[in-house]
Amino acid sequence: MSPHSRYAEFYRRSIEAPEDFWAEQAKLIDWHAQPTRILDDAKPPFVNWFVGGKTNLCHNAVDRHLPTRGDSPALIHVSTETGTERTYTFSQLHEEVQRTAASLLALGVGKGDRVLIYMPMIPQAAFAMLACARIGAIHCVVFGGFASGALASRIEDAAPKVVVSADAGSRGGKVVAYKPLLDEAIRVSSHKPEAVLLSDRGLAPMELVAGRDHLDSEVAARLSSADVPCEWLDATDISYTIYTSGTTGRPKGVQRDTGGYAVALAASMKHIFDGRAGETYFSTSDIGWVVGHSYIVYGPLIAGMATLMYEGLPTQGMNREPDGGIWWRLVEKYKVTVMFSAPTAVRVLKKQDPALLKKYDLSSLRALFLAGEPLDEPTARWISDGLGVPIIDNYWQTESGWPIITLANAVERKPSKFGSPGVPMYGFKVKILDESTGEELTAPNEKGVVVIEGPTPPGFMQTVWKDDARFVNTYWKSVPGRMVYSTFDWGIRDEDGYFYILGRTDDVINVAGHRLGTREIEECISGHAGVAEVAVVGVADALKGQVAMAFAVPKDSQALSDPARALTLEGEVMQRVNDELGAVARPARVRFVSALPKTRSGKLLRRAIQAVCEQRDPGDLTTMDDPASLQQIRQVVQG
Ligand code: PRX
Repeated sequence: MSPHSRYAEFYRRSIEAPEDFWAEQAKLIDWHAQPTRILDDAKPPFVNWFVGGKTNLCHNAVDRHLPTRGDSPALIHVSTETGTERTYTFSQLHEEVQRTAASLLALGVGKGDRVLIYMPMIPQAAFAMLACARIGAIHCVVFGGFASGALASRIEDAAPKVVVSADAGSRGGKVVAYKPLLDEAIRVSSHKPEAVLLSDRGLAPMELVAGRDHLDSEVAARLSSADVPCEWLDATDISYTIYTSGTTGRPKGVQRDTGGYAVALAASMKHIFDGRAGETYFSTSDIGWVVGHSYIVYGPLIAGMATLMYEGLPTQGMNREPDGGIWWRLVEKYKVTVMFSAPTAVRVLKKQDPALLKKYDLSSLRALFLAGEPLDEPTARWISDGLGVPIIDNYWQTESGWPIITLANAVERKPSKFGSPGVPMYGFKVKILDESTGEELTAPNEKGVVVIEGPTPPGFMQTVWKDDARFVNTYWKSVPGRMVYSTFDWGIRDEDGYFYILGRTDDVINVAGHRLGTREIEECISGHAGVAEVAVVGVADALKGQVAMAFAVPKDSQALSDPARALTLEGEVMQRVNDELGAVARPARVRFVSALPKTRSGKLLRRAIQAVCEQRDPGDLTTMDDPASLQQIRQVVQG
């Protein structure tokens, strides 16, 4: 990066004078009370931004726009699953959010109470999130593709007063009933929510539990008033928690503040996404992931943009007919200016007729942002040639809340380099360290762990929900001798300061842009009575980036010699993962072996297994206990 470029100067200020820099960014949002102190980092690694300030995310996303753009589109909902399409203006969104807020209040929800949202991609999900923000309740959105076991562990940890859900989701025309999964999750969880608020889409029958379950339409009909003012919250009050996978089977509740998050999003909409009020933003993610929180719901609305919320596959039309051009049809129809998706989705579209990209008028589009997994060069080139607009790779995590490494093209247009998301974003002190010595690697192209030095910028996670010790020990103590935040990603930096991300250092895998913990899948599979031991690894996949592969030692050794038995057991294990965790976590294959490769001290050699699956050199195996076990894995994979 040239030290004299406009972005270099912008970045330098954010690092050298963070208080001045962020005080300026804070002007992008409305405050009920101005912060008295911009940055308090007296107790690292904990950081408090905008201390003394009072604000509200819902006010900034909705109410603030009423005087200037009350009648402009705010939320555009399109479902190719149900063939529905509806636009809510900011005034209509305001009304809906207030109604949901009033319903939550009527069910006893107050400031600081948790509301767990387990919803398909329907407007009510966004209403619920914004309603929580409005009244100061903490929302915990759980991805609708998760099944009862994954949901139960999150209910247990979040201890929600109320759960907001719906009868069903739908994927590729197949209805997935949510209510039975939710009932089962509540049954097995030791925490019981007081109430469940349900939207009935008419997709699946629902049995209501008397005294606990309420239809949203009925609760709303009983309200005496649906006027709910915004609760002015401290900037440091918790806005939400979102669960993400790590090295253990127990998901982590990433906790975020209110004021810092609002400022971070407003700033990113301006400097990175270049989204302008009155325009339309289309992110193809899901509200269950961090991208959905930051760039379907809050970011675009804070910027005064309409946000397009899409339920359906990228290849299906309004009547569920095959239509590989549906996204482009929506870009044309709603004059989308900024689009956000994942490389996997582009790889799916790559299989469609390329003429589809030329069939629609895409002249409104200024850029396509892709994140969540490495963007391979052929995919980047294909979509870049097809759309003729900049394709901006952006690297970040649930923990960061907004991009860590990308290009802030609205500050200064910089050339993209294939394979690199770009350079560190303002506020992020990104370094590459030697994993074992903690030494900083400054020479170009040296591979190390990507870390962030504190203080972390606004929007970054505050802590792990209810577990400060886990936050400190997991993230800030993994590199010897250094108190730095580990991203758990490998990376290199080239001579121009561009970073390249080379995959995770831990047991997290990335399937079609979905972050999954192999340990959580292993724990689920170990619960099957026929399985003695199991290792799950992520294996490179041309379409999904990675897929999960399971290697299990069966209790009954006949499954090793009898293919029919192996097939039955594999089917049962897959079904178990499907029912417990959800289809996203289901391994592509479950293979049976008599032993798993381990070190002499008994540690599973997942990386060696992964290397063998990908036909790479498994590296140094001197500490391995039983070399034949790896040979066996090689045989089953090849056979
Ligand atoms: O391994 C990195 C990968 O996804 C992880 C974070 O996933 P998640 O918490 O779901 O947040 C996604 C937010 C976009 C990272 O640790 N990852 C994310 N973006 C990229 C990426 N890997 C390579 N290139 C990217 N652009």
